Amino acid sequence: THKVLIDCDPGVDDALALMLAHGSPELNVLAVTTCGGNQTLEKVTRNALSLADELGKDWIPVAAGAQRPLVREPLTAGHVHGDTGLGLVELPDPQHALDERHAVEVIAQTVLTHAPGEVTIIATGPLTNLALAIRQYPEIVERVHEVVLMGGGVTTGNLTPVAEFNIAVDPEAARAVFTAGWPVTMVGLDTTHQALATPEVEAQFAALGTRLGQIAVELIRSYREAYKNNQAFANPPCHDPVAVARVIAPELVSVRRAPVDVELRGELTTGQTVVDLRGSAPEDCATAVATGLDHGGFWALVVDAVRNLGAP
Ligand code: BDR
Ligand code: CA
Repeated sequence: THKVLIDCDPGVDDALALMLAHGSPELNVLAVTTCGGNQTLEKVTRNALSLADELGKDWIPVAAGAQRPLVREPLTAGHVHGDTGLGLVELPDPQHALDERHAVEVIAQTVLTHAPGEVTIIATGPLTNLALAIRQYPEIVERVHEVVLMGGGVTTGNLTPVAEFNIAVDPEAARAVFTAGWPVTMVGLDTTHQALATPEVEAQFAALGTRLGQIAVELIRSYREAYKNNQAFANPPCHDPVAVARVIAPELVSVRRAPVDVELRGELTTGQTVVDLRGSAPEDCATAVATGLDHGGFWALVVDAVRNLGAP
C-alpha cells in the first residue's frame, strides 16, 4: 500500500477524490489537510470533517491550513462548487474534531515520522500549504516519495484561456512546489477533461444503492449543473480523483517527464503552467505531466472505491 497525505479544498471533485482514496485498499491515508480555494478555509475544512464522518474515517486527522494565498488576494469558486463548497450535497455538522495542529505541521510531521521515500503527497487544491511546508521544513523535500497534484494544463486553462484554477489562485506557491526538486507529477486539465462523468457513470453509482453511492451521484449532478452552460462539455469533467487514480493505478494515467514552471508576471498568462515538451527531458528533470486517461478503467476504480466504503 501507498502511504498518502491529501491536501485539498473540498470542493465537489475533491469530495470524489477523498471517496476514491478512502475506499481504495491500495492507499493508506495518513492525514487530510485543507487549504482555502474552492470555498473559504472555514467551509472547505467543515466539508473535509463531515466527509470523514460520512466515509467512516473519523480517526484520520484533518487539519486546517492556509486561509489565503502567499501573495495574492483570495479567490473562491462558489459559482462552480456552490455556497457550501459541496454543490447540491448537504452533510450534517461534523462530529470529527479538527486536529489542533496547522496543516503545515501535519504535513511536516507526517513526512518526517515516516521513512524517507515512504509518503506520497496528493494535492487537489491551491498549493499554498505545500509551499509553506517546504519553506519552513526544507528537509521534507528529499523525504517525500512524490507529489501528485491536480493543477495546471499543458495546452489549456479554465480560469483563463491558459491558467487552471488551483495554480492561478496561488501561482507563487505553485512555482515553489514545481521547482523544489522533489518528484512532482502534474495531472492537468488536458487529462482531467477526459474524466467525464457520463450518465452511464452516474447510473453505476446509483446502482450501488448505498448512501455514499447517492452522494457520488449528487456530486456529479452538482458538476453537471455547474458545467451546463459550458459548450465544450456535454458531461462534466471530474478533475481531482484523477490525481488519486494516478497513485493507485499508474497505468490508468499516462505521463511524460518534462520541465514545468509557472508564469507569475504575464500580461495575459499569469498562472499558466509552462511545460517544456521540446525534445526529451533533461536527466535531472524531477517533474512529469499527465498526457492521457483510461476513462473506463478510471471510473471503474472510483465506483469500486465507493462500493468498498459500503454504508458506514
Ligand atoms: C480544480 O479547481 C477546483 O475548482 C477543482 O476542485 C479542481 O481541483 C480544477 O481546475
Ligand atoms: Ca480541488
